[in-house]
Amino acid sequence: MISSANGLKCCEVAMGILKEGGDTLDAVIAGVNLNEEDPGDNSVGYGGLPNERGEVELDASVMHGPTRRAGSVAGLKNIRYPSRVAKVVMEQTDHIMLAGQGALDFAKAWGFPEENLLTEKSRMAWMAWMQSRRDGNGSNAWAPGIDAPGYEPQALLRRQFPRATEEAIAWALDVVKNPPTGTINCLSLNAKGEMSGVTTTSGLAWKIPGRIGDSPIIGAGLYVDQDVGAAGSTGRGEENIRVAGAHTIVENLRRGMSPKEAGLDCLKRIARNFNGDERKLNLFDINFYVMRKDGAYAGVALWSGRARRGGYWAAPQFAVNDGGASRLEACTWLLERKRQGN
Ligand code: GLY
Repeated sequence: MISSANGLKCCEVAMGILKEGGDTLDAVIAGVNLNEEDPGDNSVGYGGLPNERGEVELDASVMHGPTRRAGSVAGLKNIRYPSRVAKVVMEQTDHIMLAGQGALDFAKAWGFPEENLLTEKSRMAWMAWMQSRRDGNGSNAWAPGIDAPGYEPQALLRRQFPRATEEAIAWALDVVKNPPTGTINCLSLNAKGEMSGVTTTSGLAWKIPGRIGDSPIIGAGLYVDQDVGAAGSTGRGEENIRVAGAHTIVENLRRGMSPKEAGLDCLKRIARNFNGDERKLNLFDINFYVMRKDGAYAGVALWSGRARRGGYWAAPQFAVNDGGASRLEACTWLLERKRQGN
């Protein structure tokens, strides 16, 4: 079992299901459901950061290796577990991908409850983002007007969200400046050699309503070929879509590359799309998770690390579970980022 770094618990739960003889796709879906329902994971499901209108829009895809089937949903609102809906699309329809209102109607028809996915913490971050925007004259109708004594974003949030902690306020102001594209991807392989995968996300924070990322696109955010291996991605979906990353990586495996070589080659294609211009490449992060049918695996990242809030330096990692406790392993990176912080 491998996943993005936010999947330590996910991999553990999924491995437990495999050990009991469960299906590889059921395992990864049960694993990522933990992230989808966790209000603390602001990149997935309930508590995910919203689009520019303050609506949480979710994307997810699933692929089942043994039956070679796939399903996905895009721009799905108000449903906590988009990965489960993607599986129903796969199993109960003659289609692969449902989007927007159609996906919501479908989910409701299958009994998924509708609920507001915007937590108070995510609403605070969205409000901070709304208040941070300025027109050419430096004004914003959502921020205090010209009659206001002053504008200090931190103090304003403290007044508007009196129950928010200082840490939550600092986080909100940070995600305003650095809109995250978190996600979870999880890939599984059982003792019989069967593979499956899932990718689920709330996508890019503050996106234009209707923006679809790479996660629900079979061949970009996820690809599984039972004969060869599987790959998935987190990070800036736009760049992944342009190289059909997960499919590219699986085809690289098919041609004999190792998981690490296959992933790095894909990252090189992304860098090539910018003629290797590191000033532009420095504006985003993207990771791939790769698992070959024989169990060899790798996590690869475009950059060697990034400065997080508070100046602390985070090197890219991914989660692995091969039967015991889950652990984080280092991703192999393509480009070295100038190190800031500790
Ligand atoms: N990779 C997640 C997204 O860009 O939506």
